[in-house]
Amino acid sequence: MKTITLIQGDGIGPEITEAAVKVIDAAGVKIDWDLQTAGEDVIEKEGSPLPECVLESVRKNGAALKSPVTTPIGRGFRSVNVTLRKELDLYANLRPCCNLPSVKTRYENVDIVVVRENTEDLYAGIEEKIDENTAHSIKIITRGASERIAKFAFEYAVKNNRKQVSAVTKANICKLSDGLFLEAARHIAEQYPQIQYREILVDNCCMQLVQNPCQFDVLLLPNLYGDIVSDLTAGLIGGLGVAQGANIGEHCAVFEPVHGSAPDIAGQNKANPTAIILSAVEMLNYIGEEKNGKRIKSALFETFRQGVCTPDLGGTASCCGFTDAIIKNLQE
Ligand code: NAI
Repeated sequence: MKTITLIQGDGIGPEITEAAVKVIDAAGVKIDWDLQTAGEDVIEKEGSPLPECVLESVRKNGAALKSPVTTPIGRGFRSVNVTLRKELDLYANLRPCCNLPSVKTRYENVDIVVVRENTEDLYAGIEEKIDENTAHSIKIITRGASERIAKFAFEYAVKNNRKQVSAVTKANICKLSDGLFLEAARHIAEQYPQIQYREILVDNCCMQLVQNPCQFDVLLLPNLYGDIVSDLTAGLIGGLGVAQGANIGEHCAVFEPVHGSAPDIAGQNKANPTAIILSAVEMLNYIGEEKNGKRIKSALFETFRQGVCTPDLGGTASCCGFTDAIIKNLQE
């Protein structure tokens, strides 16, 4: 039996985590969940929103399934999510965005993979208040991290039969930092002549994504643009409720949905667990449970085909009701 770290987060976190665990269990996958807690609620008890034991658990187990953790806005502690990625050197944030059966969206055949650098850029958290009216935030881009993520994107493209990688930057303005990212991407692109390499500025990329998303295949971005653009691509396939994600490093990986803790719907049994279930499927693939991952994905897709979905997709199913429908399809 595999031991996997489980971080159930806060907001809608506990509801969607329960859904994912139930579905995995119903698929017959035997997992010993190593339950860990992080976020505001543990500060008092542990002295930190991300206690060392959480990091240790992921290091030891090699994989984690994680729900969102709230980050205070404009004040308070540093994001648990950012710190976790940095501490475990989970340098690649992989966010596949593909249309789902029977989920009506503006476009059909969207199949984009966002590869976001996950350890530096403005997320380095180096900020200072110069005076009452001025604040600085430092954007860090290094050749090492940029080449590493570019290599990840091209390797992903080769292994997954993708045809094109587009490097997305604002190198016309951030000439040195984004310029360096681009230089690294070009250098790696030369080693993959079989993959078409493209460069596009992030503002134009957003417009093109909204007007003609099917022209894109793999998008390669520094941290901040990757964060923003992946919410946009989530919008193309039905919203944050269906957008899966993974943070991957050399030695371990944390699988989590793209979305946050959705405080506006927390505790109402309304959350869509699709994003975490699809993230969990990727986790199952990662630990060698591809067959069961495939079964879960088929049962989820069948549920959509039956017209069952949560309110964010225009349906009436509750989080629990939707989960039960998936489980029923698993058993048929
Ligand atoms: P959010 O992603 O939590 O919510 C944005 C909108 O999408 C809300 O209307 C919400 O109801 C909806 N939504 C999100 N997930 C949904 C789901 N599964 N089913 C149905 N509707 C869903 O973004 P927001 O409000 O900007 O952030 C809330 C908190 O989450 C913040 O503290 C933020 O820092 C944190 N956050 C944490 C992340 C993580 O743990 N990896 C990632 C992003 C945000």
